[in-house]
Amino acid sequence: MLNIVLFGPPGSGKGTQAEKIISKYNLIHLSTGDMLRAEITAGTKLGLEAKMLMDKGELVPDQIVIGMIENKLDSNKQAVGFVFDGFPRTVKQAEALDELLVKRNAPIKGVLRLYVSEEELTKRILSRGKTSGRADDQNEEIVKNRVVEYRTKTEPLAKYYETQGKLHQVVGEGSVDEISALLYKEIDKIKR
Ligand code: AP5
Repeated sequence: MLNIVLFGPPGSGKGTQAEKIISKYNLIHLSTGDMLRAEITAGTKLGLEAKMLMDKGELVPDQIVIGMIENKLDSNKQAVGFVFDGFPRTVKQAEALDELLVKRNAPIKGVLRLYVSEEELTKRILSRGKTSGRADDQNEEIVKNRVVEYRTKTEPLAKYYETQGKLHQVVGEGSVDEISALLYKEIDKIKR
């Protein structure tokens, strides 16, 4: 199974690149952000609770996203592999994901880390905010908070995966196709 984590700060292009990777390698895209927004749209209790945190740019509790991922793994048993986008975001989530995948005999093969400057992230997110309808894309303060959450809670995961020998670093600035080409090169190395 080809299980890949796309790792990077908000606005680094994880969702954009995940779509291209799944179509090239026939994988399934698992984005916890998309799953949470679907809960918000459906007006579920979970969605309402998550919305309060997401609108401020804060992470939702680990057990919520771990449970959502577990359900998706169970409902896609025939998958060739998964691209995890925006998950894991804490060491607890990374440990839980390792546990879930080891149980299924399908560990993570590689983690692709996208590097993008803070200035570019802010520019991309605020520009998307004009049309996305996402409350967390609307102002610089919230974007800053999302980046702080990333730096403090998520970035330490790079070390976690580096220790496992799974971390691949890619420059995330340039055209979408240029970045995809760099990612495909790393995925082809991972597959060998
Ligand atoms: P989530 O939906 O995961 O958002 P995010 O990580 O903040 O990421 P974004 O969707 O903003 O950016 P991206 O890296 O996917 O880039 P994209 O391709 O969209 O999470 C939202 C919230 O949900 C979190 O804050 C948290 O509250 C909660 N949450 C989610 N998962 C969680 C978890 N595991 N644990 C706890 N809480 C969780 O691109 C961004 C923009 O840039 C787009 O407009 C795109 O068109 C543009 N763009 C992309 N590539 C380029 C390029 N090369 N050049 C120019 N523009 C580009």
